[in-house]
Amino acid sequence: MSFDPDKVCLSRLQLFDFHGVSMTHLFTDNWENVQNFQARPDDILVATYPKAGTTWVSYILDLLHFGETSPERQTSIPIYDRVPFLEIFIPPMDSGVDLANNLPTSPRLIKTHFPVQFVPKSFWEQNCRVVYVARNAKDNMVSYFHFDCMDMVEPEPGDWGSYLQRFMEGKMVFGSWYDHVNGWWKKKQTYSKIHYMFFEDMVEDTGREIDKLCCFLGLSPSAEEKKQITGGVQFDNMKKNDMANYSTHPRMDFKISPFMRKGKVGDWKNHFTVAQNEEFDEDYKKKMKDPSLQFRTVI
Ligand code: PPS
Repeated sequence: MSFDPDKVCLSRLQLFDFHGVSMTHLFTDNWENVQNFQARPDDILVATYPKAGTTWVSYILDLLHFGETSPERQTSIPIYDRVPFLEIFIPPMDSGVDLANNLPTSPRLIKTHFPVQFVPKSFWEQNCRVVYVARNAKDNMVSYFHFDCMDMVEPEPGDWGSYLQRFMEGKMVFGSWYDHVNGWWKKKQTYSKIHYMFFEDMVEDTGREIDKLCCFLGLSPSAEEKKQITGGVQFDNMKKNDMANYSTHPRMDFKISPFMRKGKVGDWKNHFTVAQNEEFDEDYKKKMKDPSLQFRTVI
């Protein structure tokens, strides 16, 4: 990422309604170029609601595809450059579209936080593989809250109580968690090349989830390679890995909170009061009506 801190003004942004989804201008200013992005048939799109496990799965995909053939990537290129964020646009830094277009790899791994209806149509036309990662709402929100405190271009998070209300109203960057996970789940019913994963399953058994991912991708790594990847992507190892832990990223204030924060299922219990939990559950039931989409808040 080409970045000159003196030239880039980082300030907290306002949310606004964009085609019915709360967004900030960083992810809408390059709209035409993003929508006209030309996907290739072997591109792999990593799609998530923010803080659902994007970096984890991106890193796994990168290791599966390039760990053996280009080991130097692992020590020289930060994950956010290996797997560009398609819709991001913070001039004068390279846009996500430019980074994606300049990727020398095949396949290209590309990240998006878009709700399904915003995805550029070429991904569907080219029948690209999509890996979607979802995380239970409570832990997802807790992670997002800490991120919004430390990422200086996110809207002002406010206090925890007001943040929780905003989350339930879907007034977050990239909109409603409920709409996001449901929208992608519904897409999976008609588009067969979506692999829908859960953060909780990854924490429970990373090796098993890597096996499923390999099946989806048509990859068959050796037992030794799989063992190495499974070890390398464990939370403590990724947290120590400067190419995966965002410590080289200019926008984030790690004194407030690290990017690799806890990586747990159930941290929400340290944040929700009993009353907040009851209110949240009541509201959740009204919004999550599809019995086939179930999340675990404990494992
Ligand atoms: S982002 O900014 O949207 O791309 O963030 P994202 O990568 O989706 O999510 C960050 C959270 O994922 C956790 N994480 C992990 N957990 C367990 N194991 C591994 N290896 C791992 N890698 C990333 C990260 O710690 C953030 O969650 P919290 O709960 O805040 O710790």
